[in-house]
Amino acid sequence: MVKFSEIKGFTFDMDGVLADTAKFHTVAWRQLAEKLGVTWNDDLQERLKGIDRMGSLNMILAEGNLENQYSQEQKEALAAEKNDNYRQLISTLTPSDVLPGMQAFLDSLKANGYLMSVASASKNAPFILDKLGLADYFVGVVDPASLHAGKPDPEIFVRAGELLKLAPEQLIGLEDSAAGIQSINGAGQTSLGIGNPQVLSEADLNFESTAEVTLAAIQAKLG
Ligand code: BG6
Ligand code: MG
Repeated sequence: MVKFSEIKGFTFDMDGVLADTAKFHTVAWRQLAEKLGVTWNDDLQERLKGIDRMGSLNMILAEGNLENQYSQEQKEALAAEKNDNYRQLISTLTPSDVLPGMQAFLDSLKANGYLMSVASASKNAPFILDKLGLADYFVGVVDPASLHAGKPDPEIFVRAGELLKLAPEQLIGLEDSAAGIQSINGAGQTSLGIGNPQVLSEADLNFESTAEVTLAAIQAKLG
């Protein structure tokens, strides 16, 4: 494990790490799944975290053995329908929807000269960061539309590190999804998982909630 003193920057997932939006993705996907006759379950809900829009739809269809039932055009219409519902749900986001402790954490990173970037699979990330009043903390936001492969592929976190011009060993990536932790690990960064440590068992560092994530707590774990 790297030493705390080597760390110079942080790469952030957004949904479920910075923004309290994972619940809205769940509501909108569940509504679509049930309309298609796919039974919702906790395992599916967890596996969808971090997965891009079309990848998520494909996982839902596979869950109901429906993967060959829809043309690409129909799938695009279903994904657009989910996104319309999701956009409705996030239209009222305000800075009070920043997850507990994250505003203070970002402030402490800024005050201590760390660089930050965003590695979110969401095409809605710039809109959400703006709504939450967080956009100015970040050197850059990776455009997920420009990726060859989404999480768990390392590409998005590699790109988030490149935005900061820092080496992987100088970076900590924060994630609430198992797919995202795999992406961070593949990019060679130190992975910090937020949520159930059993689900995020591959993370280098584990925190049960965003409220526990502070520079002091990270230093205590890294040494
Ligand atoms: C990830 C979420 O951050 O973004 C997923 O964890 C979501 O649940 C994905 O499907 C894509 O988001 P969007 O906003 O582009 O549909
Ligand atoms: Mg997430």
